[in-house]
Amino acid sequence: MTLRVIAIDGPAASGKSSTAGLVARQLGWAHLDSGALYRALTLAAIDNLAEDVRRKGKEWPATQLIDLAERLPVRLVLIGDKFKPEVAGADVEEAIRGERVTRHVSVLAAIPEVRTWVNTQQRRAVEGRRGQEGFGGVVVDGRDIGTVVFPDAPLKIFLTATAHERARRRLFQRGQEVDLELVKQESEALAARDAADSSRRIAPLKAAQDAVMLDTTALTLEEQVTHVVELARQRFSR
Ligand code: CDP
Ligand code: CDP
Repeated sequence: MTLRVIAIDGPAASGKSSTAGLVARQLGWAHLDSGALYRALTLAAIDNLAEDVRRKGKEWPATQLIDLAERLPVRLVLIGDKFKPEVAGADVEEAIRGERVTRHVSVLAAIPEVRTWVNTQQRRAVEGRRGQEGFGGVVVDGRDIGTVVFPDAPLKIFLTATAHERARRRLFQRGQEVDLELVKQESEALAARDAADSSRRIAPLKAAQDAVMLDTTALTLEEQVTHVVELARQRFSR
């Protein structure tokens, strides 16, 4: 049976989650933001292990991270049409977007055990949905969805936009002023995270060979959503 997954990958603030959420809504599918799970695990690690790591001057301990994620637990819960991240039963959708989490997330996401754990949660979430009544499919967004997590996804999109435009969008999204100096700072922070995500040994940020490349610099959110929905209707028409 065809895997009913659309993979949307791309660099930071390229519009992955917004696009994935709206595409899922138009198709009547669910939306899974894999970055939210990396962020939720990072939040849990900062709150529970950071002091110990700092005191001992050590790296993040892989086994303890996974134990923590299982114990709390860190998980994805399907609410309506969206998988939401939870830590110890609390909705952490807002807390995971903070600066502290953003600063540490790429380091934790480069740990092989962390990636294996997150991938298992994602595959389970999609598998669990498959059995449910009225199941359409899942739009999953991240960095390695088309290359590693769901390499058989029939539709893969790789979103890009210039660093300047992405920085401008992120500031606007946060309700911050969009002045040139702030755009420059934000653009540097995004570029640093993209460099870390692209250069890691395991599952680096890159487009799958069969991904549709979509430069959104000059597009509106609505235009890119319409484009992806059209591609989805073609690929998933039986
Ligand atoms: O929304 P934004 O683009 O800022 O980032 P995100 O999608 O929330 O992802 C946060 C971080 O998680 C990324 O910078 C990556 O380090 C990591 N990530 C990953 O390694 N693989 C994924 N599939 C998704 C996120
Ligand atoms: O998930 P990712 O970090 O790739 O990006 P996002 O959080 O979905 O999008 C960043 C911001 O860019 C959101 O406020 C979007 O509404 C906005 N945006 C966009 O995604 N595409 C455009 N063509 C214009 C704005």
